Amino acid sequence: MDRRKINFSPPDISDAEIAEVAEALRSGWITTGPRTKLLERRLAAYIETGDNTLNTEDDTDRWSNRVVCLNSATAAEELNLRILGIGPKDEVIVPAYTYTATASAVIHCGATVKFVDIQKDGDPVTRCPEMDYDALERSITDKTKAIVLVDLGGIVCDYDRVFNIVESKRDLFHPIESDGTPLSNLSSLIQKSLGRIVVVCDAAHALGASRVIDGKKKYVGAIADFTSFSFHAVKNFTTAEGGAATWREIEGVDNSEIYKMYQLLSLHGQNKDALAKTKVGAWEYDIIGPWYKCNMTDVTAAIGLRQLDRYLGLVERRETIIKRYDKVCDGLGLFHMFHNTEYVDSSNHLYVIRIPGITSEQRNEIIERMAELGVATNVHYKPLPMMTAYGKDCNDYPNSYDYYHNLITLPLHTLLSDEDVEYISEVLKQAVNEVVGC
Ligand SMILES: Cc1ncc(COP(=O)(O)O)c(C=O)c1O
Repeated sequence: MDRRKINFSPPDISDAEIAEVAEALRSGWITTGPRTKLLERRLAAYIETGDNTLNTEDDTDRWSNRVVCLNSATAAEELNLRILGIGPKDEVIVPAYTYTATASAVIHCGATVKFVDIQKDGDPVTRCPEMDYDALERSITDKTKAIVLVDLGGIVCDYDRVFNIVESKRDLFHPIESDGTPLSNLSSLIQKSLGRIVVVCDAAHALGASRVIDGKKKYVGAIADFTSFSFHAVKNFTTAEGGAATWREIEGVDNSEIYKMYQLLSLHGQNKDALAKTKVGAWEYDIIGPWYKCNMTDVTAAIGLRQLDRYLGLVERRETIIKRYDKVCDGLGLFHMFHNTEYVDSSNHLYVIRIPGITSEQRNEIIERMAELGVATNVHYKPLPMMTAYGKDCNDYPNSYDYYHNLITLPLHTLLSDEDVEYISEVLKQAVNEVVGC
């Protein structure tokens, strides 16, 4: 077998993205502007219908004020919590098994993170490392304001179960009263309208993923109350850096008010954006709050517009690769997640395997051996309680540790040829054989 060099997750950028970026650069408008707004409308349509080509410009009102594009998912996660009025007296439940941004956004808001372990070996059907929902239920207190679920690898969690839990705990939920400022007015209205713990989704991996709920296929972004997506360079859908926030209709709350607040939060609290200020004589603006700077630019939105055109094809190619890997792993007796089941259609973001019976040292040896043979791999994730910043006792999260200790993430991206997938599979077999001798 001839040696190949396989990167873990390079971006798939075609001439279409390059041409659109060049157009944006030549257009005279490179910061947040028409391309960002168009991407927001098209993402809103995609999230609701699953159609990535729908012409939103025939009915812009229908698709406006639904999605906010930002410079990262981390920003989207924090702004989701800020809009919800999450603050120092609140607790937010987060899975122990996720990336730091899920939890750090909570800390940035001054609230307390409560980690919940995952189910042993993950969800029984998909094997995705989803929270232990019984433990989640037990963790809820009268301080719990939100639960963040992570659709890891693009596999959609059991939102039905979590919505049932928060419904059953309505009596513990106390919405905040407004302090009279515009942000607090909105947060209080949202909390009062929902009247229960807010279900938030970290969908950094999961654009385009869906789950059948009440007999209907629903796309991520239209399932949880509030959702954040990542368009980071390694994600299925990229704008180099970028992300988006979205939310479901909330009775009694005007979507345009929510959208306006995201604009304020993401642009210094300034009540006119750069485009509005270009109108003749319209220089004057106010600062409503001393807020953040995390808007998306039209240059990066240009990448997103053309990625969205290609997106269904990209997700499909990932599924083909997953099917090939599944066969190899089944043959070798390795644990893998199930991305596409009766209820779930994943965005096919990560291919995670676990090797039964090995130690974490042996796992690391396999990773090194594969790297020597040219194949870059990764680990998603080292559980957050093990990280210095969170400093918790890992014994309190045994299922997370167990899931992680023998796990390797294989390369899964659309620049892989069939021959590359074959090569990776052979290298995996060889490395496992060398290290554990099976
Ligand atoms: C689960 C999860 N949440 C949040 C993020 C943060 O995304 P971003 O880099 O766009 O802020 C990531 C990034 O890898 C992630 O994997």
